[in-house]
Amino acid sequence: MSSPAASARPETYNYTVVRQFAVMTVVWGVVGMLVGVVIAAQLTWPALNLDVPWLSYGRLRPLHTNAVIFAFGGSALFATAYYVVQRTCQTRLFGGPLAAFTFWGWQLVIVAAAVSLPLGYTQGKEYAELEWPIDILITLVWVAYAIVFFGTIVRRKVPHIYVANWFYGAFILTVAVLHIVNGAVIPVSAFKSYSVYAGVQDAMIQWWYAHNAVGFFLTAGFLGMMYYFVPKQAERPIYSYRLSVVHFWALIFTYMWAGPHHLHYTALPDWTQSIGMVFSLILLAPSWGGMINGIMTLSGAWHKLRTDPILKFLVVSLSFYGMSTFEGPMMSIKTVNALSHYTDWTIGHVHSGALGWVGMISIGSIYYLLPRLYGRREMHSTRLIEAHFWIATIGIVLYIAAMWIAGVMQGLMWRATNSDGTLTYSFVESVKATFPYYVIRLGGGLLYLGGMILMLYNMVMTIRAGQPEDAPIPALAAHA
Ligand code: HEM
Ligand code: HEM
Repeated sequence: MSSPAASARPETYNYTVVRQFAVMTVVWGVVGMLVGVVIAAQLTWPALNLDVPWLSYGRLRPLHTNAVIFAFGGSALFATAYYVVQRTCQTRLFGGPLAAFTFWGWQLVIVAAAVSLPLGYTQGKEYAELEWPIDILITLVWVAYAIVFFGTIVRRKVPHIYVANWFYGAFILTVAVLHIVNGAVIPVSAFKSYSVYAGVQDAMIQWWYAHNAVGFFLTAGFLGMMYYFVPKQAERPIYSYRLSVVHFWALIFTYMWAGPHHLHYTALPDWTQSIGMVFSLILLAPSWGGMINGIMTLSGAWHKLRTDPILKFLVVSLSFYGMSTFEGPMMSIKTVNALSHYTDWTIGHVHSGALGWVGMISIGSIYYLLPRLYGRREMHSTRLIEAHFWIATIGIVLYIAAMWIAGVMQGLMWRATNSDGTLTYSFVESVKATFPYYVIRLGGGLLYLGGMILMLYNMVMTIRAGQPEDAPIPALAAHA
């Protein structure tokens, strides 16, 4: 498209950084899920640790969680936030080379994690394992991310700020606060540090961090994706703008208080545990408000689900979001948690959120983006997207159903007592009873990974047939 002034080329959106993050989302998805499959196999057959320390379960597990959350999920969040904020503000990304710095900086963080975790370097805090030099790099990248994102909002050409940006903005700000507070440590060497907090305060801070990592890293940012890509793919406006505003404030307020549900029946004061439980129960309302807003956006467009596998990914992700945010509040009830905690029920809950919600909304959004970033009308093969959808869905169902059954069974076996007060089952009997469910979970994981590999192939073919293309920014504010 040429501009009226023959010599001046139209200003374009910065898609380079979006392309980089979109491609790496798929690559890190395959890597992180492959490690997930390996640790699922190790839990089934422990000999697969191979007696090599850096391949042991204890080191590969944090590698899996970091790879899927921060490398796969994080890249999807960067890619979509950068795309959405430019399109909805109708202006190029702010900050020039800063955006490129966030890409290369984030990849460096991931590589540093992939090296240091198998070597056994860890702060020992779940989802915050990386040692302090890497934590500092994360902080620098995150500050740059915030400058690029909010700078773009400041120079927007449209008066309002679309709701997706509210969610991305809250995610960026909150993760900064969480990371800095929970990452406060005293370094004793280049590779070792100790938390500045002690005892139960340390636990409290850690689970305030980790729960809000779920609420903001694994939820708020992805809700930003939902608010942009679901209406776009369905070609319908969002069901209720008013509901989205209520949803936003209710969700971000409530999440902050729910962390103590991770510490039921611990040394944490009982009243704090109860607050955690009550806020978790309240959290059902905003979570479902958001899910309903997303699903109802399909009003009048339901027929598209029959033929559009990208929309299937987006809508089914919302169903899993609804399921896991119903299950979470239930598990936060102390008496339910007395059964579920330490069991595979938690793992089932995690993966209905992770594979179902986070995974599927990211996959759907990246399928939406790729052809647009490479000058193509659609992905190389829509049938492969359809196949991916079904393989992934069956994989999730196998994974989470196996974990639910295993989890409830473990909880019941551990609490069963004989009439003389002794335990009915030894621990190892519960491990043996879990074996078939671990095999099923492994099958489910392999299917989900298989779907991701199809996506990688589809992406490569799409990129090979197209070429990088940056869309022009409309001269007058129009619909994004
Ligand atoms: C092929 C797909 C996947 C497989 C086979 C898989 C497998 C596993 C396994 C075996 C564990 C350890 C469970 C345990 O300790 O008992 C685990 C933990 C975890 N995975 Fe995955 N995973 C997959 C995908 C994902 C994705 C996409 C995410 C996030 C977006 C994710 C997030 C997590 C988290 C947060 C944990 C820690 C859970 C906890 O500590 O309670 N996983 N995964
Ligand atoms: C209303 C929303 C939610 C509530 C109230 C909630 C509540 C809970 C509860 C009670 C636990 C078990 C704590 C324990 O026994 O240790 C848990 C674990 C977990 N949930 Fe949720 N959940 C919610 C939504 C989600 C979603 C959408 C995801 C993922 C995207 C998720 C990811 C996790 C993870 C990763 C853990 C495991 C933490 C760990 O022990 O490592 N949750 N959640």
